[in-house]
Amino acid sequence: MSVTTRILSIAPDDPDVEALAEAAAVLRAGGLVAFATETVYGLGADATRPDAVARIFAAKGRPPSNPMIVHADGIELARACVAEWPEAAGALAEAFWPGPLTLVLPRSGLIPDAVTAGRETVAVRVPAPLVARRLIESLGRPIAAPSANRSAGVSPTLACHVLADLGGRIELILDSGQTAIGLESTVLDLTTREPRILRPGPISAQELEHVLGGLRVRRADGDSAAPDAPLSSPGQLPVHYAPRTPADWIDDPDALADYDWPGRAALVVVGPHLDLPDVPESVPRFDLPSPDLAARDLYVTLRECDALGLERIVVVPPPDLTEWHAVRDRLRRACRSPGR
Ligand code: TXA
Ligand code: MG
Repeated sequence: MSVTTRILSIAPDDPDVEALAEAAAVLRAGGLVAFATETVYGLGADATRPDAVARIFAAKGRPPSNPMIVHADGIELARACVAEWPEAAGALAEAFWPGPLTLVLPRSGLIPDAVTAGRETVAVRVPAPLVARRLIESLGRPIAAPSANRSAGVSPTLACHVLADLGGRIELILDSGQTAIGLESTVLDLTTREPRILRPGPISAQELEHVLGGLRVRRADGDSAAPDAPLSSPGQLPVHYAPRTPADWIDDPDALADYDWPGRAALVVVGPHLDLPDVPESVPRFDLPSPDLAARDLYVTLRECDALGLERIVVVPPPDLTEWHAVRDRLRRACRSPGR
């Protein structure tokens, strides 16, 4: 199905009521609206309508086995999406919502099979931006929204990324500029005895444990990108968040000196690497020195590299330290030869 994709600019701090009403009307009619969250742009549909949710899968080319996140405008609506609200959920919601934390809990009858891929659990979060929360409020229902990219590709942090991936497949894009954080939310499973991180993200295990008062949080397996590792979360496939251009992960920066550079390549240096060996002058270099900057600009950078029509992206990863955990996770999935 081909539709005309409209783009409406909307001010992040003072969203236009008419634009929001228009977007809510699209959702109410079973249509698709992309909107910015603090992490990445999401591709939204009315979460209570299986027909609308089915269109998300079709537009993204997403495997129907991969469940999606439901967005609420506050704790009250989030609670309506779940069947149980344990003490831990209350404490975490209080501490981190609105914000980049997604909680997996038993689902309520409000959420159809289409959203959860038939699972008895649902992933919920309250996004930070006013535009996102007002949109949910205008609709009066939760919004199901995976990242607004083609399946397995790089998540969008700008409206133009959404247009490039989904133009002609969705009705509307609300453009409120670049997303502030740039990396997808932390996904925490609260249905197991010990809370378990399914996807590392902006909120770290330590921060979660701090709020949970001594309850241990199981880390996402550092090697979960290995093909033979059990899938911690249905969406955590080893090849995910990947640019179209093959990307090489170079663990030891000194190895750059002997790297066999193809004709057209770019170097992406993530982390505070000083004194890298010389690389050919023709190789453009992108630097993402701090964790915040790397999170914000990683996907823009990978998309820019794709646009250059390169044969190879060469990635020097950041050190294996807590503050780099989420960025390393996404980079590992973007590369074809993660140093394992
Ligand atoms: O920051 C984000 O989380 C963005 C913005 C738009 O909110 N959304 C996002 O959605 O990244 P998506 O669909 O691209 O990733 C959702 C992740 C997937 O890894 C999916 O498998 C997992 O959450 N997930 C969703 N429902 C789940 C469930 N019931 N149990 C376990 N994992 C679940
Ligand atoms: Mg995604």
